Amino acid sequence: MARDCILVTGGAGFIGCAISHDLTAGELPVVVVDNLHPQVHATRQRPEALSRHVHFIEGDVCDESVWGCVLDEWSPRKVVHLAAETGTGQSLTEASRHGLVNVIGTTRMLDAFAARQIAPERFVLTSSRAVYGEGEWERGDGGRYYPGQRSMTMLDAGQWDFEGAHALPFDARRTQPRPTSVYGATKLAQEHLLSAWALSFGSEVVVVRLQNVYGPGQSLNNPYTGIASLFTRMAKAGQSIPLYEDGLMRRDFIFIDDVASAVLQALSVPGASGGTFDIGTGLGTTIGDLAATIADHYGAPSPHVCGKYRNGDVRHASCNTESARVALDWESRISMSNGVGQLCTWIDKEMEG
Ligand SMILES: NC(=O)c1ccc[n+]([C@@H]2O[C@H](COP(=O)([O-])OP(=O)(O)OC[C@H]3O[C@@H](n4cnc5c(N)ncnc54)[C@H](O)[C@@H]3O)[C@@H](O)[C@H]2O)c1
Repeated sequence: MARDCILVTGGAGFIGCAISHDLTAGELPVVVVDNLHPQVHATRQRPEALSRHVHFIEGDVCDESVWGCVLDEWSPRKVVHLAAETGTGQSLTEASRHGLVNVIGTTRMLDAFAARQIAPERFVLTSSRAVYGEGEWERGDGGRYYPGQRSMTMLDAGQWDFEGAHALPFDARRTQPRPTSVYGATKLAQEHLLSAWALSFGSEVVVVRLQNVYGPGQSLNNPYTGIASLFTRMAKAGQSIPLYEDGLMRRDFIFIDDVASAVLQALSVPGASGGTFDIGTGLGTTIGDLAATIADHYGAPSPHVCGKYRNGDVRHASCNTESARVALDWESRISMSNGVGQLCTWIDKEMEG
């Protein structure tokens, strides 16, 4: 007889480890299914940061036989679906890899549940700001529009912003998702798949669209994610951090502990069902400011604009967190200077080790 549990797919990663201690303090056993992806886990070992109370199963969410083993023993009452290929830029040239894990990995899980007549009470999906692409912009006359992706002609000419307009914060209540990366498209597909499946099986779905998460525990060997940890390692090595475009593109950097509390609220708050929530600080920070804060911490030379830019990069990303505040009773608490300090302290220790 399968035992009730909370299932966390991809739960050995950055966010999974951060939620594992609070989750295992609850009543239900916590089961993590994770394939220890080599791009994230250099040593392919169960991470030390993962609560020792977690029942860890090494396996790929795309693999039907893995689901057979998991569900023979466990019956998930709640699911946190974290497993994903996460490289936004990488997804442009490795679209199938992202499609396979993020889309088929999700449907394999749902098929395995359906085959065993398991309908979890609630799914929490960690979606991404990437579903919005460039989002909505406002012209000087107050008119709003969706500019779509910046063309290479614009970028080659050093025209970073859409002329005469400014970006509005993403807001799930208002901003249409229009992904401009394959990664973003697969995250939006995950949202639709879970919501559609749940309609027929009576499960609740809560979607949290995360901005840029940073903090201790972030993979230090994944070159495709984690700009804050990348900058930290450069500054620590005494290098001047190179800034793409003019260094003024904005992101909303949200500390890992704040994201962990948002995911836990999404899993437990009764009224959250069916909601889609933007999770960030609500503040846009320029990449240049982030780099300068990190450089200052290490006394490294000032960051410099290096003249590079990337096809498909979004110019600005920040969000309105009002609905998360109201429906999830959640707010971010950690300031960027505090969060960067904690990240640097952790990286110092890791690199000494
Ligand atoms: N970190 C961020 O800035 C951020 C922002 C927006 C959304 N998200 C989303 O949050 C989730 C977790 O992100 P994270 O930052 O913890 O990433 P992470 O890379 O640290 O963790 C992902 C985990 O999933 C596992 N995984 C990958 N492919 C798998 C597969 N086929 N089968 C089983 N496990 C697999 C990896 O081994 C890893 O442990 C992802 O869904 C991601 O799209 C993260």
